[in-house]
Amino acid sequence: MCGIVGYVGKHKAASILLEGLKRLEYRGYDSAGIAVLQGGRFNVAKKVGRVEALVREAAKFTFTGKTGICHTRWATHGGVTDANAHPHVSSDGKLVLVHNGVIENYVSIKKFLLSKDYTFKSETDTEVLCNLIAYHYAKEPVSDSRSRFFESVRKALLHIEGTYGIAVMCVDFPDEIVAARKGSPLLLGVGDNEFILASDASALVSRTRNVVYLKDGELVHVTKDEFSITTVDQAEVSPVVDQITWSIKDAELNGYAHFMEKEIFEQPAALENAMRGRFSEDGSTAQFGGLNLTAADFRVIDRYCFTSCGTAWHACLVAEHLIERFARIPVEVDYASEFRYRNAPLDRDVLFFVVSQSGETIDTLAALREAKRKGYKVMAICNVVGSTIARESDGGIYQHAGPEIGVASTKAFTSQLLIVAMFALYVARMRDMSYADGASYVQGLRAVPELVRKTLEQAPHIKEIASRYAKYNDFLFLGRLSLFPIALEGALKLKEISYIHAEGYPAAEMKHGPIALINEECPSVFFVPKGDIFNKIVSSMQEIKARKGKIIAIVTEGCELPAGLADDVITIPECHDAALPIISCIPVQLLSYYIAVARGCDVDKPRNLAKSVTVE
Ligand code: AGP
Ligand code: GLU
Repeated sequence: MCGIVGYVGKHKAASILLEGLKRLEYRGYDSAGIAVLQGGRFNVAKKVGRVEALVREAAKFTFTGKTGICHTRWATHGGVTDANAHPHVSSDGKLVLVHNGVIENYVSIKKFLLSKDYTFKSETDTEVLCNLIAYHYAKEPVSDSRSRFFESVRKALLHIEGTYGIAVMCVDFPDEIVAARKGSPLLLGVGDNEFILASDASALVSRTRNVVYLKDGELVHVTKDEFSITTVDQAEVSPVVDQITWSIKDAELNGYAHFMEKEIFEQPAALENAMRGRFSEDGSTAQFGGLNLTAADFRVIDRYCFTSCGTAWHACLVAEHLIERFARIPVEVDYASEFRYRNAPLDRDVLFFVVSQSGETIDTLAALREAKRKGYKVMAICNVVGSTIARESDGGIYQHAGPEIGVASTKAFTSQLLIVAMFALYVARMRDMSYADGASYVQGLRAVPELVRKTLEQAPHIKEIASRYAKYNDFLFLGRLSLFPIALEGALKLKEISYIHAEGYPAAEMKHGPIALINEECPSVFFVPKGDIFNKIVSSMQEIKARKGKIIAIVTEGCELPAGLADDVITIPECHDAALPIISCIPVQLLSYYIAVARGCDVDKPRNLAKSVTVE
């Protein structure tokens, strides 16, 4: 949520900043702005709209300075206006700041600052922080000038409640930026005589792969020659420089129309990467390098708690189904935002899992911290290496799906499904699952990338179906058992990117209420896999058909549906039960994508959403 880029170096800052900002646009995109320090003053351009609008606006300026900051906003406080766009300049003109997060106590601080004659041009919480830093700057002794700027930021932050990732410039220190974080991500790229601050690595990977991930409570003081990190409480920090393992090419469209389309088609490779090296030599179980727990530790666990948000929460529901079915261990699933506040009673031998593509979702992070505070170990399933959730967990499993840029999660979701399927196998094999069943499970998962490839071949057929259904404004997605979460995911995908109202339900539950919605204008997407309850699902379909509802059926190849029951059929290849959620998800991803494209929606940047939700 919101993207920040900062630059200090030997080159002119503006084009580097705007290039980085374009790559962060998926984090928030209601307005954008840039400030470059030159000739003893800040040159600031801001514009409502996408980064492209800012680029056009910036073309009217002559930016020559080599230090600058920029921002793409996802508004929390104050409407989407040019005045509310960041950067914000303090009323005395001394400081300029960009911010990701929410200053919760901004009302009382603003009151205090108004009494000290500071003035405000925007409705944001951010401008309050900027003026608070200016207030401390004015009070700092001038003698120790080098630390005066840094100290004013540090002292202001001591009074802040809420979350922030900030980058600040001061008019008196032309080659410096002070940045800090608490709850919002920020990293520093260490380049060739240049430093780039960014909310995530995609903004800087074209210039350097050496990065320092800031931790909560840390401030970094960047000058053109060096940087140093200190905590808000003045403890020195020895920075660790990590390497980004992917390249800028991985974050580009490479001929696809949208990132979502690209990421859907990247799934066979993403799934290969998620399973690489993770099956035992005897081919009967899974193995993970980063769990930091022994088999003996796992033996005593008698309950798993999975928590996360959105699409990742759907992966948790699949985990519940697979672990309970194959390992016979109870699993609880909570929305992270609920877990944090509902004070759930917990047994002693519980292991927590949080699942997060970005590793920065604030609700999930808060749930992780709450579970740790209660003394539980927390494992993370994460895609972004070095993310806050990955670093704060006690162990975990990286997804290795590569950067996911489309706001609607696709490849990250299916790789989470594969990982939870592998984890279910791992714990099942410690309990009652036989060698033979383990080996066939492994075979089933190994086949997944190829089966996904095969399912993707149906894209033209699904596109044609989408063109006929794009006109409807309500959809139901109906699936049972491990495909109920996929019904939820199908409905979420469609809602997110095409703004069509859609609901996911267990197929048989539909008759307890949602059936009231059914008429010729409300189609249903049914998951109808081969298996024990095939006929039960067919009965639910009959109930819809009897009420003139249109049906798109996602059916296992070779399964016969009664003639005329489904209006449209998409087949999926037969697969192991543990792989079924993954394979079944592909058609609904494609269906949502093609419907959104047919409706002319901005698939990669749906309205009101942002890729990584770093506010509560
Ligand atoms: C996915 O399509 C959504 N945009 C959203 O629900 C997302 O899954 C959720 O915000 C959690 O994100 P995370 O996996 O990065 O924690
Ligand atoms: N709270 C700030 C605002 O509304 C920052 C939002 C963001 O993270 O983009 O301007």
